[in-house]
Amino acid sequence: MPNQPIETERLILREVLTTDVEGMFELDSNPEVHKHLGNKPITTKEQAVKGIEFLQQQYKERGIARWAVIHKETNEFMGWSGIKYLNESEQMNGVYNIYELGYRFIPKFWGKGYATEAAKAWVDYIFKETNVKTLYAAADSPNKGSVNVLQKIGFEITGEFVFEWEGTKSDCYWLEQHK
Ligand SMILES: CC(C)(COP(=O)(O)OP(=O)(O)OC[C@H]1O[C@@H](n2cnc3c(N)ncnc32)[C@H](O)[C@@H]1OP(=O)(O)O)[C@@H](O)C(=O)NCCC(=O)NCCS
Repeated sequence: MPNQPIETERLILREVLTTDVEGMFELDSNPEVHKHLGNKPITTKEQAVKGIEFLQQQYKERGIARWAVIHKETNEFMGWSGIKYLNESEQMNGVYNIYELGYRFIPKFWGKGYATEAAKAWVDYIFKETNVKTLYAAADSPNKGSVNVLQKIGFEITGEFVFEWEGTKSDCYWLEQHK
């Protein structure tokens, strides 16, 4: 885990804090955000608190997890972006004990290149500052915006699989990038 926030041209990336609960609720209660994530938006602030607690537990136990993305000029919470260490119970495409890149933004921040900017910063951090040699990512195949972000920052589609999660099934691409 980086020992300080990551700064890009327009963004600050930092750990998700307990005080981000309003932003996390705005993000995860929006059906548009969850269109390609199994269509199960959250409905209560308590669920947002639980999500933050899970991330904070991962910071401690796995040394890394998704980070908040903050708008540098306005200080707004925009969503999250970052690396998850997938354990056995979270395997995707049959793979686990790997580092996976993911992101999720509040729709008013879509279409301005922010997702790409944050994701690029993570790829740079991982390959320059750590010994991790391969990053993985998965995206719903119809989620053109996400697939586009991944390909723009150097990921290649290496497979397709069906992701099953809490009773939902979706066709996904599997992507990889090597140091
Ligand atoms: C996926 C997500 C982060 C993309 O955010 P974004 O703001 O559109 O991303 P960016 O602006 O950095 O870039 C997206 C790129 O894809 C393109 N794009 C976006 N939506 C598209 C669509 N529906 N069809 C084709 N291209 C699309 C954009 O034009 C842009 O490419 P360009 O810079 O070459 O023009 C955002 O839609 C989101 O948070 N969605 C909800 C959560 C989610 O699906 N997360 C990913 C899970 S795998």
